[in-house]
Parts: sequence; C-alpha cells; structure tokens
Amino acid sequence: MGKLWQGRFSETTASVVEAFTASIQVDQRLYAYDIQGSIAHCQTLAKASIITEAEATEIILGLEAIKQEIEEGRFRFNDSLEDIHMHIESRLVEIVGPVGRKLHTARSRNDQVALDVRMFLRVATCDVVRQLYRLQQVLVVLAKKHIDTILPGYTHMQRAQPVLLSHHFMAYYEMFARDMARLEDCLPRINVMPLGCAALAGTTYPIDRSYTAKLLDFAEVSPNSIDGVSDRDFILEFLACAGICMIHFSRLSEELILWSTAEFGFIELPDAYATGSSIMPQKKNPDVPELVRGKTATVIGNLMALLTMMKSLPLAYNRDMQEDKAPLFDTVDTLTACIGVYIDMLPEIKFKAKTMLQAASSGFLDATDMADYLVSRGVAFREAHHLVGEAVRFALTHKKELHQLTLEQLQSFSALIEEDIYSILKTRQMIERRSSYGGTAGKNVRLAIAAAEKKLAQKKDTLPHFGN
Ligand code: ARG
Repeated sequence: MGKLWQGRFSETTASVVEAFTASIQVDQRLYAYDIQGSIAHCQTLAKASIITEAEATEIILGLEAIKQEIEEGRFRFNDSLEDIHMHIESRLVEIVGPVGRKLHTARSRNDQVALDVRMFLRVATCDVVRQLYRLQQVLVVLAKKHIDTILPGYTHMQRAQPVLLSHHFMAYYEMFARDMARLEDCLPRINVMPLGCAALAGTTYPIDRSYTAKLLDFAEVSPNSIDGVSDRDFILEFLACAGICMIHFSRLSEELILWSTAEFGFIELPDAYATGSSIMPQKKNPDVPELVRGKTATVIGNLMALLTMMKSLPLAYNRDMQEDKAPLFDTVDTLTACIGVYIDMLPEIKFKAKTMLQAASSGFLDATDMADYLVSRGVAFREAHHLVGEAVRFALTHKKELHQLTLEQLQSFSALIEEDIYSILKTRQMIERRSSYGGTAGKNVRLAIAAAEKKLAQKKDTLPHFGN
C-alpha cells in the first residue's frame, strides 16, 4: 500500500530516506497505546456524528484485530511506513477498507504521538514508583536487621565518626523516598490529554476533547493546542527524576564496590551477583554495582540529549522530536533494571560486622567526643579542639589510639580529664550520645524505622496506578 500522505508528491521517497526517517524500530513499542488512543478517538468522532456508530464499530473491530496481530507476532513492520501510527492506519485500511480512512479525521500524528507517549509514560512512571516502594521496604528490613551493626562514617573518605549501619541504610531510604515523591509529582503533568490539538492549531471538527480524556482516564485536557503538540517537559521531568535516582544508585554502588575490597572488607557480595576473572582465579568482581554505576552515565546522557534536542526548537512540532523516544525508553528500561537488581541483591549481601566495628574503633573516631567532653567541663570548643589535636599527634607518634593512652598521658593535655573519659570514648557510647533529631543514636534510628514502616503501610493502598 502507498503512503498515506503520497498525494502531494510526484516522486517516491528515496529508500535511503525511508530508512533514515523511519522510527518504527523504536516506536512500535507504543502500539497498544496508539490503538487504545485511536479507539477513543473513533468513539469521539462518532459522538460528534463525524462518523456513524456503524463506521466506528467497524474501525474499532479492525483496530482490535491489529492489536492481536501484533501481539501474536503476525504483523509486518516495514520502514516505508515510517512509524507505528502509519503502520496501524495502513493496516486498518487493508482490513476494514475505505472506512478506515476516516479514522484520522480531526487528528494529526503530532497530537497522536504526544498522546501515545503520555499514555506510555504515566504507566511507566507508576511502575517505577511501585518498584521504588519495594526498594524502600527492602532498605527498612535491612535497617532493622542491622540495628546493632556499627561502622565508621566517612567524610572526605576519611574515617570520621562511628554510625549505625541502620542509619546508613535509612539515609538511602530517604533518598529513594524523595525519588518516589518526585516521580509521583510528575504524574499530574504527564496525565494531560493532547488529542484534538491536531497539527498545531486545533481542529475545525466539533469534537468533545474532554470525552476523549474521560475514555482514556486523563485528568485534564491540554488547554493550548500549540503547547499540546510541542511540549516535551513531561519527558524531561521524568528523565531528570530518573537521573537523580540513578545518582543515588551510583553512590550506593560506589560504596558497595569499595566495601567489598580487601582494603575495606566490610561486605561480601553474593556469588550470584558477582563474576570471576578469565585470567585471575582469585577474583570476585562487583559487576552489578559497577554496571549500575556505569549505566548512570547513560541515563544522565539521555537527559542531556533531550534537553539539547529541545533547546532551540521553534513552536510547534518539529521532526527532531521523533528523537525523544529512544532516550526515554532506554531510561525507563535502565532504571527499571537497576531498581530490580538492587531489590534482589541487597538482602543477599553479607555484612561483616566485626570488621566494620574494628574499623570504627581505630583511627581517632573518638576525637570529637573527647573535645565535647572537655567542653562539658567548661573548655571553649575551639580550645578543646586544639588540645585534642595535640593529643592525637602524641598518640600517633606512640602508635596508640586516644582511648589507649594512660590517664596521666591524657591529663598532660588537660587537667580536667578524669577516669570517666574512657567510658565516653567507647564506640557504642559515641553513637548513643548522638541523639539529636536525625542523629545516629539507636533510639533515634528505631524511631525512624518505625516512622518509615508506618508511612509505607499507609502508602500501600494509595500507590498510583494506570491500567492498560
Ligand atoms: N514519528 C513521529 C514522531 O515520533 C510522529 C509524528 C510525525 N509528525 C509529522 N508531522 N511527521 O515524532
């Protein structure tokens, strides 16, 4: 069958141009939304008496037959038909005859593609939100399990102060909770129905756009036809949220990679999530976190690609915009795969509590607490900081920790120091004293876990969902 827009042309399209302009390899993924949207459009046309009910029924049966053909692998894709919209419409005319040519009344591919992508993305966004919900559940379970595990917290990648591993997990819980909230916040801006904007200026036909929106479960109708076909903000927003979420995964991945080294020795990754080396028999490589870290670059790149593609486009539709789908689909797939693999892998990681505790008990992680001790005895904080700095220097030269110095040695830095300093310098004590709101004290972390559990339980029945 010839092209649906062939009328104006006296020559046929060069085959190299057909191949170059075709997007069918990418956008065939939208087929179900395209068909669902076309069915709703058809019903809207019938409601406005632009086509008869009988014609509408014929077209809808044809569209449903096409859906089945595609799902059963019987549908033939072909570059000369450009995109999924043309494929479905051409096939429709083959199946139902000339009445199929009425479907595209009061519509353009410009509003059609905007509709399809919005339908795709609202489902994808809900799926990611649900996955992030599950990931948060996993993190809370881990936090509960490791409520007594102590590790050194780091700043500048230097040991800083001891913290609970639970507290560390709950930090990621907070990050992913924000990612989830950000994505949910995008939904009302995705869920806007563009059909009826037509090419850019609206349509001369008396269609009821809010009826189409109702049929397709859209909360709103795009209020400006030029914007309706030009806007890709909703994709950019999703890609930005995905990029931020991947940054969180990448940071977690970096930690797991470091923690699994012989130098740290804090964790052992499950065999099922690591691979060996083809030459070095001793190796067990942290491929999964490494790949997640690597894929973060692609996701960020996808956001950059789309921002750059949009930045100079005049209104309204431009063919450049066809390039939006590959980065979008790739981002959805990558993000989904990363969340999925972390949900499965995290509970399988072995945390080596003894090594972590040992690391938290050396390297002067108690220096701040000693300074705070002097402050509690009336020394100004800056002065206390200086005195403890001297004590650290002394201890270093004697290859000791602060808590390994004798009372006489400690008193040489300040006469205010007494025997009780040793209990102050115990790692667990240091953690428990950090009980300011949001701090790492066990009682705080328990409260944070309980609050998270309550939130997750409340959220369970209100997770966003679009059926298809
Ligand atoms: N394949 C096109 C896209 O993805 C569909 C819209 C084409 N519109 C047009 N006027 N050529 O953007």
